[in-house]
Parts: sequence; C-alpha cells; structure tokens
Amino acid sequence: MNQKPVLVSGVKPTGDLHIGNYFGAMRQFVELTKGGKYRPFIFVADYHALNTMQDAEEMRRRTRELVMAYLAVGLDPEEVVFFKQSEVSAHTELCWIFDSITTMPYLMRAHAFKDAEAKNKEITVGTFNYPMLMAADILLYNAAVVPVGQDQKQHIEYARDTAEKFNRIFKTDVFTLPEPYIMPEVAIVPGTDGQKMSKSYGNVIPLFASRDELAKRVMGIVTDSSGERPENVYAIHKLVRSEHELDALYTEHAGSYKTLKELLIEDLDRYFTPIRARYEELQNDPYIVDDILARGREEARAVSEAKMQQVRKAVGVA
Ligand code: ADP
Ligand code: TRP
Repeated sequence: MNQKPVLVSGVKPTGDLHIGNYFGAMRQFVELTKGGKYRPFIFVADYHALNTMQDAEEMRRRTRELVMAYLAVGLDPEEVVFFKQSEVSAHTELCWIFDSITTMPYLMRAHAFKDAEAKNKEITVGTFNYPMLMAADILLYNAAVVPVGQDQKQHIEYARDTAEKFNRIFKTDVFTLPEPYIMPEVAIVPGTDGQKMSKSYGNVIPLFASRDELAKRVMGIVTDSSGERPENVYAIHKLVRSEHELDALYTEHAGSYKTLKELLIEDLDRYFTPIRARYEELQNDPYIVDDILARGREEARAVSEAKMQQVRKAVGVA
C-alpha cells in the first residue's frame, strides 16, 4: 500500500498558454508534484471543458498541447499519474451517483452558476453540474490535497460536502474529505500593456513563442516617456532575473528603453529555450505523449475502479 497523501488536480485544455499561466500556476504545480511528498494524479479536464469548447478538432489539439506543455515545463510522468478525464469513465459514473443525492438549490448557490445567471448567460446542464463532476474527480482517488487557484475553493467545499452526505446517507466511510491547497498568489504577471496578462486582453507573451515572436511582443510593451524605469518591462524581467542584477542593469541603461527591451528578449529567450526545445521534441515524437497518457489511464482506471466497487456496493447496485 502506498501511504503517501494523494494529491489530485485537473486542468482544462482551454486557451493558449502564456507566461502568466506558467509563473502563476504551472510552475507551482510542477514543484508540488516533485520530490515524492505526495502521490499525485493530474488530469486534463476535457469533459469539464466540453461545456464551453464544442469543436472536436480544437478539443483534440488543445488537449494534446496542454499535455505537451506540462511535460515540457517539467511534470514528471514517472512520478505523476497523468491522464485524460474522459478516458476514465468512473468520473462520469460517480458524477451521476452524486447527482442523485444532490439538490438543485444546493448547486444554485455555486458562484460560477450565480455569475453566469447574473449575466443572463445560457447555462448548460453540464455547467450547472460542474461541481459534481469535480467532486467525483477528487473523491475517486481519496485525495487529501487539491491544489487550485483561489477561484476554485468553493468547488472543493462542494466535494467535501458531497463526501459527507454520501457517507451519511449510505452509512459508510467510503469517501475521505479533501483539503484545498490554495496556491499562493504569485504576484500577478502583467501583460504587455501593464494590465494582468490574460488571453482575454490580447496582451500575452505566449509560453512557446519563437524568438522572433518574443521580440515582437516585448518591443510592443507599453512604456511611458518619463525617462524613469519602464515598469512594465521591469515587472516581466524580474520573473527571469534577480532584482539585484536588474537594479544594476536598469540604472546603467536608465531611459534607454530599447536596450532594456533587448536585454529582456535575451533573458526570456534564454529562460524558455530548454522548455521550448522539450516541447518541440514531444511534437516530433507523438508516441511519447500517447504512451504517457496510456500509462496514466491504466493506473487511474485501476485506482478509480477499486473505489467504484465500494461505491456500487454502498448504494446497492452491486
Ligand atoms: P487567462 O487569464 O489567460 O484566461 P486562465 O484563467 O486560464 O488564464 O488561468 C489559468 C491559471 O493561470 C490560473 O491558475 C491563473 O491563476 C494563472 N494565471 C493566469 N494569468 C495569470 C497572470 N497574469 N499572473 C499570474 N497567474 C496567472
Ligand atoms: N475546475 C478546475 C479549474 O477550472 C479544473 C478541475 C476540474 C479540477 N476537476 C478538478 C481542479 C479536480 C482540481 C480538482 O481550474
């Protein structure tokens, strides 16, 4: 028996990755799953994404890109059970069982649902039910720790409530209660216009930008003409170089924005070259990705099926 606390998290394959995602989330994820402290299960939440991404080609492409991106930034498939949610059918099966013990008013209290409703958006049943699929994701593996961003905290509470409710109704202790691990807010990475870097603002530096692309984006960083330190350049620069070194550089080249931007291009390029190289390697050998996902799927299936046998017994269908 493996006694290490289980860590579970999912990532949706939506959106092109940028360096804000990398410094704000991906890097922390990779660190957390290293070193053997936990037994980590990380999956691509493709069925969660299906609510908003309804184009088969796009789903396939983005799923693959996300898997390659995580591997390129250092997620270690020897340490992590890395798989696609859709390939482990226990997730949707358990979701149905949770649906049967969950009330509509309870789900109507979810922030995501309330926001969508406040904006008069059309809400799919899947979106409404999002917290139950997520509870299944988490509870199938006896997760002790669930690293997520602050915005996902309520979903972990739904998973805890649902575990308790199931155990109470069926007089069992099949499910253990997970704890959220709220990833510390790394300083928000600003985009090329100084606002938060976000795919919705068109101000990103893509994670896998070529050098030319990097140069173009960096040269486009908005600076004022006050002759002071160009804050938007500096804020990105300090992600890849110590503030101590930067202070010297920015003093030496005070007011010379073009030079400072060229230095930033250089430093970003150096920082991301190995990650980009690994990504290209994976792109050139699609079997590596298939292989990793196949191994992850087998292990996730074995663990989740053992849990489902207890669950089916507890509810009386087996
Ligand atoms: P976007 O804002 O581009 O849509 P997402 O909402 O998909 O990004 O974010 C995915 C993850 O990346 C989240 O955990 C989020 O906290 C992190 N993240 C996104 N943008 C930034 C940023 N500018 N600075 C720090 N972290 C970020
Ligand atoms: N809802 C999460 C997000 O949008 C993704 C997710 C799906 C997840 N299932 C999960 C995260 C289970 C942690 C555990 O970021």
